[in-house]
Amino acid sequence: MSGERDARPMLVLRDIHKFYGTNEVLKGISLEVNEGELVTFVGPSGCGKTTLLRLIGGFTDVSAGDIILDGKRVNDLPPNLRDTRICFQNYALFPHMTVAENVGYGLKINGWPKERIRARVSELLEMVELKAFGERMIDKLSGGQQQRVAFARALSLEPKVLLLDEPLSNLDANLRLVMREEIRKLQERLHITTVFVTHDQFEAMAISDRLVVMKDGLIEQVGTPIEIYERPANEFIAGFVGYVNFMDGTVSALDAAAHTASVDTPYGAFEVSLEQKDIAPGDEVLMVIRPESVTISLDCGIKRKNVVCGTLRSYMYAGSLAKCTVAIGDKKMIIDQYNPRDAQRFTHADKVEVEIPRSVHLLKKKKERPS
Ligand SMILES: Nc1ncnc2c1ncn2[C@@H]1O[C@H](COP(=O)(O)OP(=O)(O)OP(=O)(O)O)[C@@H](O)[C@H]1O
Ligand SMILES: [Mg+2]
Repeated sequence: MSGERDARPMLVLRDIHKFYGTNEVLKGISLEVNEGELVTFVGPSGCGKTTLLRLIGGFTDVSAGDIILDGKRVNDLPPNLRDTRICFQNYALFPHMTVAENVGYGLKINGWPKERIRARVSELLEMVELKAFGERMIDKLSGGQQQRVAFARALSLEPKVLLLDEPLSNLDANLRLVMREEIRKLQERLHITTVFVTHDQFEAMAISDRLVVMKDGLIEQVGTPIEIYERPANEFIAGFVGYVNFMDGTVSALDAAAHTASVDTPYGAFEVSLEQKDIAPGDEVLMVIRPESVTISLDCGIKRKNVVCGTLRSYMYAGSLAKCTVAIGDKKMIIDQYNPRDAQRFTHADKVEVEIPRSVHLLKKKKERPS
């Protein structure tokens, strides 16, 4: 039942273009966000995330394309007549009002009677765990509490789509973790369709149903956090979400029955499990090797499949993990060794063996045409 409900598109963007003067900052964005889904825009600074959010909220006009909200085209509606609410990075709270007045502001503007406002505000404050803070002035709140007020205010009129532009970026690291869990819990409980923007790729992965990776005003890939992290569509996406080691190679053979490919590289031959169907012997590929997927150990005596020898260049102990830099021939590889307390410790210039897992992702390289 909930599966059917989830599949209903609440927000549809159709071929959205946006020009500022002659500068085209959105170059054809199409996307469907389902009811109750939390979708996050990620991408480098200036790629158009905020612009897209502002277009959805009605704070900027589209140059071309359609914005469909719950089945209705809303291009020409002003922000207050769209069923969307935006929550900005700086919260944009009214400093001269109390918490309760801030939360109830939209209700008042919409002509709600006093008693109903009081009841709704009380319900909202309870929801964000600020029940005792109704009469407090905004500047007497911590950053996390202000964030909650902004969130309660955005939810006051039960918008169909909630737009959150870097809502956690003013908070310190620990509070960020707490608040992101709270936002996700509330969002799921209220089943509210949410579009989130963050600079923090790990926050994006942790909180989202799907990620939308953007670059230069275009969508590069849409997928679940697992798809984006484990099966990125190209080199840019692989490098954008988390650190990655790349290794060039050529596919020498395929074993269709075992779903594996053999890849020859300047550092040795590797056997890789194959998910893609478009890879053939002779193809040039890029192996996408995540630092935490590699195993590292001392010595390099025995020759085994998928094992190469290297020299430790640096070992940075950081509690839950040790970041190791290993030189393999002319290549530097970053390897995360988790739980170093119970693992082998390394020192500079140690000879180490590095095991590349079979589960690395392969990116097929585009054939370069001679110009
Ligand atoms: N009002 C405006 N007038 C002219 N150009 C603008 C305006 N707003 C944004 N831009 C330009 O549009 C592009 C996209 O900006 P946008 O704010 O959407 O990026 P962003 O992805 O949100 O970046 P960040 O991660 O830094 O917040 C940038 O090149 C920016 O300079
Ligand atoms: Mg922005």
